[in-house]
Amino acid sequence: MIMKAFIYFLIFSLIKSSSAKNTVQDHLERGSSLSVEDDSHHITSLDNTFTCGFYGFQNNAYWFAIWYTNSKDRTVVWTANRNKPVNGRGSKLTLRRTGAMVLTDVDGTIVWETNTTSTYISRAVLLNTGNLVLKNQNDDIVWQSFDYPTDTLLPSQTLTKSKSLISASRKSSFESGYYGLMYSSFNVLTLVYDGPEISSVYWPSPDPGFNVWAFGRTNYNSSRIASFTDLGVFNSSDRLYFSAMDMGYGIKRRLTLDYDGNLRFYSLNDSSGLWSVSWQAIAQPCNIHGRCGRNGICVHGENLECVCPPGYERNDPTDLSQGCKPYFNQTCVDSTKFEFVEMLNTDYYGFDLNFSSPIPFEACRDICLGDCRCEAFSHRLTGEGLCFTKSALFNGYRYPNFPGTTYLKVPIRTKTPNSSTTTSLATCRDKTIMVGSPSMYESSGKKVKWVYLYSFAIAIGVVEGFIFLLGWWLFYGRNVFLTNLEEGYRIISSQFRGFNYQELVKATQNFKVEIGRGGSGVVYKGILEDERVVAVKRLGDVSDGGEFWAEVSTIGKINHMNLVRMWGCCSQKQHRLLVYEYVENLSLDKRLFCSDFLQWKERFNIAIGIAKGLAYLHHECLEWVIHCDVKPENILLDDALQPKIADFGLAKLSQRGGQDIEFTRIRGTKGYMAPEWAGSLPITAKVDVYSYGVVVLEMVKGIRLSNIIISGGGEDEESELMRFVRVMQKDIKEGKKLWIEEAIDPRLGGLFNRKQAAKLVEVGLSCVEEDKNKRPTMDLVVQLLVDCESE
Ligand SMILES: *[C@@H]1O[C@H](CO)[C@@H](O)[C@H](O)[C@H]1NC(C)=O
Ligand SMILES: *[C@@H]1O[C@H](CO)[C@@H](O)[C@H](O)[C@H]1NC(C)=O
Ligand SMILES: *[C@@H]1O[C@H](CO)[C@@H](O)[C@H](O)[C@H]1NC(C)=O
Ligand SMILES: *[C@@H]1O[C@H](CO)[C@@H](O)[C@H](O)[C@H]1NC(C)=O
Ligand SMILES: *[C@@H]1O[C@H](CO)[C@@H](O)[C@H](O)[C@H]1NC(C)=O
Ligand SMILES: *[C@@H]1O[C@H](CO)[C@@H](O)[C@H](O)[C@H]1NC(C)=O
Ligand SMILES: *[C@@H]1O[C@H](CO)[C@@H](O)[C@H](O)[C@H]1NC(C)=O
Repeated sequence: MIMKAFIYFLIFSLIKSSSAKNTVQDHLERGSSLSVEDDSHHITSLDNTFTCGFYGFQNNAYWFAIWYTNSKDRTVVWTANRNKPVNGRGSKLTLRRTGAMVLTDVDGTIVWETNTTSTYISRAVLLNTGNLVLKNQNDDIVWQSFDYPTDTLLPSQTLTKSKSLISASRKSSFESGYYGLMYSSFNVLTLVYDGPEISSVYWPSPDPGFNVWAFGRTNYNSSRIASFTDLGVFNSSDRLYFSAMDMGYGIKRRLTLDYDGNLRFYSLNDSSGLWSVSWQAIAQPCNIHGRCGRNGICVHGENLECVCPPGYERNDPTDLSQGCKPYFNQTCVDSTKFEFVEMLNTDYYGFDLNFSSPIPFEACRDICLGDCRCEAFSHRLTGEGLCFTKSALFNGYRYPNFPGTTYLKVPIRTKTPNSSTTTSLATCRDKTIMVGSPSMYESSGKKVKWVYLYSFAIAIGVVEGFIFLLGWWLFYGRNVFLTNLEEGYRIISSQFRGFNYQELVKATQNFKVEIGRGGSGVVYKGILEDERVVAVKRLGDVSDGGEFWAEVSTIGKINHMNLVRMWGCCSQKQHRLLVYEYVENLSLDKRLFCSDFLQWKERFNIAIGIAKGLAYLHHECLEWVIHCDVKPENILLDDALQPKIADFGLAKLSQRGGQDIEFTRIRGTKGYMAPEWAGSLPITAKVDVYSYGVVVLEMVKGIRLSNIIISGGGEDEESELMRFVRVMQKDIKEGKKLWIEEAIDPRLGGLFNRKQAAKLVEVGLSCVEEDKNKRPTMDLVVQLLVDCESE
């Protein structure tokens, strides 16, 4: 049997190769077939523009398709078996003697067929237009592929009421996606997203009651027919009319509904074989529904960017359209257990529970709080404003100057560490630290009882003297801040502003609630008039305002999801205050060494987040910033356990590309400080890499490695870190099988991702290299960790 097939194949190919080379075959005779094995077995239109045959795509998946012969990537314009690819062996397309054109798979099953059995068909012809037709003896067209478009319309092909273009699901895929171009029941040509959860029209307008006339269309002509000419002019019965930018004859064109939901008019460059867009329906990707999935927010810009709201994470980090899921339990039992997170310039389209006439903010909030179905509300304009309560969050978008704010309903975090935790402070693994636990903004060194090792250690905690005479313009030139939009959850930077002293006195109720105290000042909790909760840092004696300026000029411009945001500042007479975003959760040291510990996934995410924040500081800021005091105390965790690096007050700026910096004063925290602080070596961003390495290893091990331990009667001093590094390096070198199991925090009970843990240890070890040139950059660290994020 196999032998027979082989011989047949051999003979067949011989015949083929001798005949097909010279003659272009534009048709298939009745009774003959095309086989998938033979790559050269095609039908080509007389002018050679189109080819029809088997189109292999993935390893063993084949489509019976029509494509542009000379386009570089063999652009497919039509497929017969779109969602049912056939096998790369034994599949066949036959024009049966019964009159049907039939596509069969390897086992002979019919995957696709034309329903033309009752007619006498003489042959199948691929016309110059790209239309594959079945003709009878009188040369009449009995069946044509133009009647069954996939995602592409060709010149002279008509789109009618029974036809639609359906996008592909992904780039370079043929499978049907969720976007469609079709006539609505009101005779208007529309783009529709028809996803698994929702469906909605997004073009010409997402508004269900939109006025077609305003878009130059009509809904009175029910003929529902559209097509475009060779000239590049599209004309539809609803008066939609557009022309290609390069309008003119002789250019090959196609109109394709792309996988991303945009309808584009393409022109082929015959010499390069590449397509260029000569018209598109939608300029701004955020106006296409379904791109960011449920709960996702599309951020206005030229390229698609989706972010998750606070407290949510991506369902699938590689596929934005899968949306975001909440970290918290959304079950609504008791409405008093919820609060709201403000998302500026953000809105979700549709799914309004109720639309009310203008009501005050509080009333709108209470409606949402009182309704279990309400997941968020949006309130436009302050004071009396429009109130939209949302039962589901789809089609989120955010763009600068959008006059709406969405308030997301999230559970109030239970803040009593004794109620739910398994580990209480008494069992905290690092008692020395807990004696006078440093609060989040505090630089350590004052109350902590250390056994000092490093003889070079100089007084730490009070820093002054960086004088940066960057002018006031940084404050008032708000536009400066607008340029600094970066990856991550972004708050629109124009929020940065100057505060007056009285305002902050009021916000903090005359500095009532102290939440931290450090070398550079005391931090108070406050609530602004617009209900934002803030941390107000009141700087100590600052006679010349130098440090103040350092902080302001650095932080005011920095905007990254893993860095604590500064919202403004105040400088009035002797008062110097900074207003920061308030980060709800505990700092990393508390979550790691005390109270309830973090799970592996959370730790790994935090490690990536810190790395991203530092990479941003080191490589992406307008000015190059070194933090100089990276340690768990300075890493705050928000509700979603996203890390935010705090305390840039002491950071030193340098110009990008400048020389190594000379520091006039040592800052940092023992145990996290790179060895170069000891000598007179220049300080570079690699000091942060070192500190990061210590933090990462502490996260793996779950204990303070920065502690100094004394072994052997005080002579052989060694830090816990050195010991850990020594043991790890030995284990790895010796190829010990369970080295990672021994390195990892036993509290995880073995529940961790081995690959990620190994990567984290490896990265941590390379970061704490004595020689700073052997340490990686933070950019590289991010890359290494992100690469195994989805393991
Ligand atoms: C042929 O008819 C069947 C059943 O009516 C239908 O499912 C199929 O889509 C038709 N095929 C074509 C190519 O029209
Ligand atoms: C569109 O087609 C209609 C009917 O064929 C025709 O009357 C009209 O002039 C065309 N519009 C343009 C702008 O070509
Ligand atoms: C409706 O549209 C068709 C196709 O564009 C056109 O031929 C016809 O004249 C239009 N009818 C009216 C009443 O405008
Ligand atoms: C077509 O491509 C060639 C080669 O890339 C280029 O030189 C030429 O300008 C292109 N033509 C058009 C009309 O874009
Ligand atoms: C969410 O909370 C409800 C009620 O408190 C509970 O029944 C349910 O099991 C919780 N679900 C999860 C995933 O924790
Ligand atoms: C919608 O809001 C109005 C008041 O604006 C209220 O009377 C009505 O009961 C609300 N409907 C629902 C279903 O909540
Ligand atoms: C938690 O601590 C508070 C104050 O320390 C105490 O009043 C409360 O009873 C404790 N709750 C539990 C569940 O132990």
